[in-house]
Amino acid sequence: FGKIGKGEDTPGLAVYDPGFLNTASTRSAVTFIDGDKGILEYRGYPIEQLAENSTFLEVAYLLIHGELPTQEQHEKWVHEITFHTFVHENLKSQLQGFRYDAHPMGMLLSSVGALSTFYPEARNIHDPKVRHDQVVRLIAKMPTLGAWSFRHAQGKPYVYPDNDLSYTENFLSMLFKMSEQKYNPDPRLAKALEVLFILHADHEQNCSTNAVRAVGSSQVDPYSAVSSGVAALYGPLHGGANEAVLKMLKRIGTPDKIPAFIEGVKKGDEKLMGFGHRVYKNFDPRATIIKKAVDDVFEVTGVNPLLEIAQELERIALEDEYFISRKLYPNVDFYSGLIYEALKFPPEMFTVLFAIPRTAGWLAQWLELVDDKEQKIARPKQIYTGDRQLEFVPAAKRW
Ligand code: ACO
Repeated sequence: FGKIGKGEDTPGLAVYDPGFLNTASTRSAVTFIDGDKGILEYRGYPIEQLAENSTFLEVAYLLIHGELPTQEQHEKWVHEITFHTFVHENLKSQLQGFRYDAHPMGMLLSSVGALSTFYPEARNIHDPKVRHDQVVRLIAKMPTLGAWSFRHAQGKPYVYPDNDLSYTENFLSMLFKMSEQKYNPDPRLAKALEVLFILHADHEQNCSTNAVRAVGSSQVDPYSAVSSGVAALYGPLHGGANEAVLKMLKRIGTPDKIPAFIEGVKKGDEKLMGFGHRVYKNFDPRATIIKKAVDDVFEVTGVNPLLEIAQELERIALEDEYFISRKLYPNVDFYSGLIYEALKFPPEMFTVLFAIPRTAGWLAQWLELVDDKEQKIARPKQIYTGDRQLEFVPAAKRW
């Protein structure tokens, strides 16, 4: 607790909780996490079952609507998403105006924000039909914007969506198609991406979701709210850990260097990136699922020498008292960067690959916010630490 304001005439006491470590900012029925038991559920369904048996678009429907679709609802949903994948040509011109080396996350966040100007009706957030249309547009267009940001950095022409393909196949086509011929991605790669998208679709009140809710609480349109989520994800403390894992593995270089590296970690020289989690203290359920996807991807792309280092590092750490006593286990980022590299993504794209599926979670949480009659504009209190009631002396007399 802290006193609000300095001096005698202060309005009272407030809870001081930087980063909301112990303060619930909202009530939510979207995602459940039990960090001690390693449980992650979307709308009550365990992540393991969804990753094994569902598709990203079905999971997106579940997050958004709160229940699984009937066959008819599913067909309509997939049809709607598929036929909103194109973006306005003027938005393409906007993307083309970026520097050749523009970071794809910077391009993504500004183009998502720019979408609001193409759909001015989106400001009418109290109309359920309007809300639905923007949700569909955002989920549909994120892969297009993400893929075009990637092609831009490579100096390659943008590839238009291929609506005969599934959500992840189409994304791979827009990323990697090199000729006029139809691009047919390896189904094992499309499936691995599908699993990664499901794992990243939501994670309750993380930094970017909190940003979407805070900005959304001003009743702004969903494009502007989601662009604030992309901005939050851009930060290295949120979306950047898998890139750090990759750099660490490259630095270690060969398996024989692992014991010395582990000793350095134990001495406190550095952290073992991709290990440990603020919420999951026994295991990260997403890490277990991702390990299966690793095998599928490397079957197609051939084994990467970094995988051998990662596996050996994990084996040694899991048997070491330092990591056991501190409950440090691999998190989702330990293997995701390896998969992305095997798929030939440059590290700057890793966070884009996070933002695309997380859009479904952001929107589910945004819809919940808009429907919540008790929701107030996000406006936390502060504990004021500055001066009070100073006498202002004009510049002419001060200098
Ligand atoms: N390597 C070595 N030691 C570690 C690691 C690690 N990766 N993580 C925690 N520790 C140690 C700490 O030094 C501390 O040791 P001490 O008790 O001797 O001081 C102890 O374990 C407890 O750690 P905390 O920092 O209290 O744990 P916290 O919950 O605050 O941190 C975090 C969690 C930030 C994820 C941390 O484990 C970490 O930095 N991991 C590496 C980065 C990483 O992989 N981030 C991705 C997280 S997943 C995601 O964002 C999608």
